[in-house]
Amino acid sequence: MDRETTKPKVGQILLTESAISACIASLAEQIKAAYDSSDKVIVLVLLDGAKRFADELFGCIDLAKFELRYLRAKSYNGAESCGQIEINGRIGDVSDAEVLIVDDIYDRGRTLSGVLQIVKQGHPQSIRTCVLLEKQTTRTELVSIDFVAAQVPDCFVVGYGLDYDGQYRELPFIASVDIVSV
Ligand code: IMP
Ligand code: MG
Repeated sequence: MDRETTKPKVGQILLTESAISACIASLAEQIKAAYDSSDKVIVLVLLDGAKRFADELFGCIDLAKFELRYLRAKSYNGAESCGQIEINGRIGDVSDAEVLIVDDIYDRGRTLSGVLQIVKQGHPQSIRTCVLLEKQTTRTELVSIDFVAAQVPDCFVVGYGLDYDGQYRELPFIASVDIVSV
């Protein structure tokens, strides 16, 4: 569809605010258990989409051993994967730590795969991945995801930090997007 004559509209609500909170609380328990015997965990939060998720997730966890760092990784232009990853931000020295990469959604897999490749070069003690949403879709890059809050069907979704061209990020729930003609 021609983007000049279409606009995105919020469609069906897939996860309510309370459903998301319950999933995140359960994820926080899994993460605490997984890192129970760890000394230092560097959490790489992929902006902007995972910011709200990470805020709520790490609001449920004692931060003594967790250090949050923020990176910007982008693989999308609107709802279209442009096939390229841009990563900005300082990962820093991770060689004495375990690393947990936190993203908003595992879709085609390019973003997490790209970030993983770079993080591996820093030789951390371990690398795990955590996403708010796993989309039921075909992957371009298969990535092993260690922690997932919830599954969503193969459609473009917005809300709870996820946007469509900068729109709908602030919605407190997750909804599908309908592209309508105008
Ligand atoms: P992947 O590289 O295809 O796995 O896409 C992951 C990135 O694309 C995520 O970090 C999101 O920023 C963005 N993305 C993928 N699917 C969606 C979606 O349905 N809504 C909003 N952003 C998405
Ligand atoms: Mg992203």
